[in-house]
Amino acid sequence: MSNNLMKKKLQGKVAIVTGGASGIGETTARVLADHGALAVVIADIQSEKGRAVAESIGLQRCSYVQCDVADEEQVAAMVEWTATTYGGLDIMFSNAGTLASSPQTILELDFSEYERVMRVNARGMAVCVKHAARKMVELGTRGAIICTASAAAEKATVNLTDYVMSKRAVLGLMRSASLQLGKHGIRVNSVSLGAVLTPLAARQGIETAADVEKYLGPYTSLKGAMLTAENVADAVAFLASDEAACVTGVDLAVDGGMVAMPFHLSN
Ligand SMILES: NC(=O)c1ccc[n+]([C@@H]2O[C@H](COP(=O)([O-])OP(=O)(O)OC[C@H]3O[C@@H](n4cnc5c(N)ncnc54)[C@H](O)[C@@H]3O)[C@@H](O)[C@H]2O)c1
Repeated sequence: MSNNLMKKKLQGKVAIVTGGASGIGETTARVLADHGALAVVIADIQSEKGRAVAESIGLQRCSYVQCDVADEEQVAAMVEWTATTYGGLDIMFSNAGTLASSPQTILELDFSEYERVMRVNARGMAVCVKHAARKMVELGTRGAIICTASAAAEKATVNLTDYVMSKRAVLGLMRSASLQLGKHGIRVNSVSLGAVLTPLAARQGIETAADVEKYLGPYTSLKGAMLTAENVADAVAFLASDEAACVTGVDLAVDGGMVAMPFHLSN
């Protein structure tokens, strides 16, 4: 086997995972470590869970940093700490996200909830991309930034107006940043997910495989495949790796064909 094939695809890379205390972020932190990452920093507001996840990953250089992604000072400090402690920054998985606590149709839109959701999902993404990119430019690193968007950014949903708007903002951020950072060799992409069983999905009433099938099955072309956090993490690991060296400005749908599904005109 050649050296290239034996080498793990993220060997030597330093990664930050925001929202890494739970769900997709937690699984992705593990998968990045499995792919040989040198260091993984979990940035999240949930300190007890974040610490437990960092300890359980079993990587020597794995830390939890308490950080609110929408707070620019905290994010700048977390990025600085990561680069100083682990000798660089190669990967930013900007993934932390939230949902409103009640249905948000346009007729009932609650602007205090709207502002809370936009603060984390839109502003928080921009803060994390900004500070990761600034550090990568400063260090001359050809880094990879991956943002978590959603199939909801393309398809909308009946009761998540604010969430859909926030995820459309993620796509705009990803495209703008990829255009501007290309000259520094920094790649920026996003992943758009269908439903993954996490605490966030549970808040939408999606708690079991049967719920996914009931609510989303009719809108998903690929049958018999249950989307998992590992599926998303594998896509993130690919986008973070040199295998995706020429991939930038792309939203990768990991959704069983939900976004690609056309209107079905029966004949
Ligand atoms: N689960 C799904 O079906 C689904 C579908 C599409 C997109 N997404 C997106 O995936 C991402 C991860 O969600 P998940 O499903 O794993 O949910 P989750 O609730 O399991 O995890 C979200 C994490 O983000 C953290 N977080 C929230 N606000 C934060 C803040 N201000 N600063 C730092 N951390 C913060 C939470 O503490 C939590 O650990 C989100 O961006 C979400 O919108 C999820």
